[in-house]
Amino acid sequence: MTSQGPTEQKRDELLQLREKSLQGGGTRRIEAQHSRGKLTARERLDLLLDPGSFEELDPFVIHRSTNFGLDKQQYLGDAVVTGYGKVNGRLTFVYSQDFTVFGGSLSEVVANKICKVMDMAMENGAPIVGLIDSGGARIQEGIDSLAGYGDIFNRNVLASGVIPQISVMLGPAAGGATYSPALTDFIFMVKGVGQMYITGPDVIKSVTGEEVSHEQLGGAEAHTAKSGVAHFLDDNENNCILRVRELLSFLPQNNMENPLPIVSTDDPERDDESLNTIIPDNSNHPYNMLDVIEAVVDSKNFMQVHQNFAGNVLVGFSRMNGNTVGIVAQQPNQFAGVLDIDASVKAARFVRFCDAFNIPIITFIDVPGFLPGTSQEHGGIIRHGAKLIFAYAEATVPKISVLTRKAYGGAYIVMSSKSLRGDVNYSWPTGQVAVMGAEGAVNIIHRSILKDSEDAEEKRKELVNEYENSLMNPYIAASRGYIDDVIEPSKTRRKIIRALQMLENKRETLPPKKHGSIPL
Ligand code: HXC
Repeated sequence: MTSQGPTEQKRDELLQLREKSLQGGGTRRIEAQHSRGKLTARERLDLLLDPGSFEELDPFVIHRSTNFGLDKQQYLGDAVVTGYGKVNGRLTFVYSQDFTVFGGSLSEVVANKICKVMDMAMENGAPIVGLIDSGGARIQEGIDSLAGYGDIFNRNVLASGVIPQISVMLGPAAGGATYSPALTDFIFMVKGVGQMYITGPDVIKSVTGEEVSHEQLGGAEAHTAKSGVAHFLDDNENNCILRVRELLSFLPQNNMENPLPIVSTDDPERDDESLNTIIPDNSNHPYNMLDVIEAVVDSKNFMQVHQNFAGNVLVGFSRMNGNTVGIVAQQPNQFAGVLDIDASVKAARFVRFCDAFNIPIITFIDVPGFLPGTSQEHGGIIRHGAKLIFAYAEATVPKISVLTRKAYGGAYIVMSSKSLRGDVNYSWPTGQVAVMGAEGAVNIIHRSILKDSEDAEEKRKELVNEYENSLMNPYIAASRGYIDDVIEPSKTRRKIIRALQMLENKRETLPPKKHGSIPL
């Protein structure tokens, strides 16, 4: 047997410690994590980052609390794994909460570790991804833990609009712990695994008497379809994390850079004849705007954001000739593409994200107006609709729009109009720019004629026809310059790509100010 010198002994001890730090809260708890159908913090990082690229930071950090015998339970690295690596070859900072250590709860040192990688992400201009699986504030630590959350929230706000921030909900997030994800740009949730709520089912039952399960209250379906808190829903962790990688591929590293272009195999001059006949003859009949988007963008690739929320408007990322674009579009298939409260807020938030990160915005318009009704009025459609006007007017990135059919009333102005500094505004021949639809307009401006007419129905048809022929075509708006050109639908792709190329060096600034006061 060869005897070891002091240097080898020290090295062996350190290697053993390193090995121990990889085991989180121990085999029993790792097995429990797996038996819940969940991956461990490190397995998740293996999926997220390019193979072999992870560099861990602070693996030897331990908590300092002595409360409730906590000094006898210490785990190297405590309840989070932090560091940096590559996603699609690009630098990305990460933290992955380890539920096997004190339920992933946030101690003072866990907060310090997270803040350290957030600071590094800011200093080095790279995205940060948080994999969240935590019982919230470390109960035994009290104020130190709460203050740690405060430090994270503060960094989330300072980083907003500077680097992309993504949260992936892979376990519980209760109480104030939900607010760090809520302050980030995109939230991913896995069905049956991620849960977010301010107060849990037990508190709700004791305060209001209402009985609700964890999943019903704060599961992935509740937050991606009802509250709109989360943007992406997946059935399992693998798919979810792959989609995080996909999303990052569309985004720039920070607000001073443009998204990385890719080589497109789709011909930029490609025509799509199906678009010439996609609009139904009857203007009240729906069609699927997804077909339009997929026909226009590179290789039909459209990554929808908020797919299950406010489906009357579609938002998401695509590429045109290899360059990232943000798409905003009405969906005539759902509530005729009307703008309501949720749709306004959904689109406004997306427009602001694109503007912050140098992503041109393409808007496909077919909007009959804002949704009428007391629930909308009393819910604040005026205030929420104003957010969308604000977002479009404030955006200085290239803004290109295509009017496919209706652009009625205030909704015409909202959707990237020339007045809100839309750069290039195209219409298809089927475009209709008007204060309102023909039926409604005729009822108002010809009320007395219709009242006195013996054959009111015949007369109404005649007047509706007259209104449609004289007002409801795009050539009037085009003759005033509000529409830059009326284009053949099949040529939409090349028109947009050429406009994007023309706008490549667009320079536009806003008046000097601290920040605007968006009507929140
Ligand atoms: C310390 C915690 C903990 C916490 C869980 N654990 N939450 N330790 N602080 N907040 C520990 C448990 O003691 C247990 O330790 C291990 O983590 C796993 O927890 P279980 O309860 O066995 O797991 P499970 O049944 O899956 O339940 C998970 C849970 C539940 C739903 C998260 O643990 C829970 O309700 N925790 C408390 C949640 C909470 O109310 N947090 C405070 C929210 S307020 P062992 O040793 O057995 O493995 C908040 C304020 C933020 O966060 C303020 C910001 C402004």
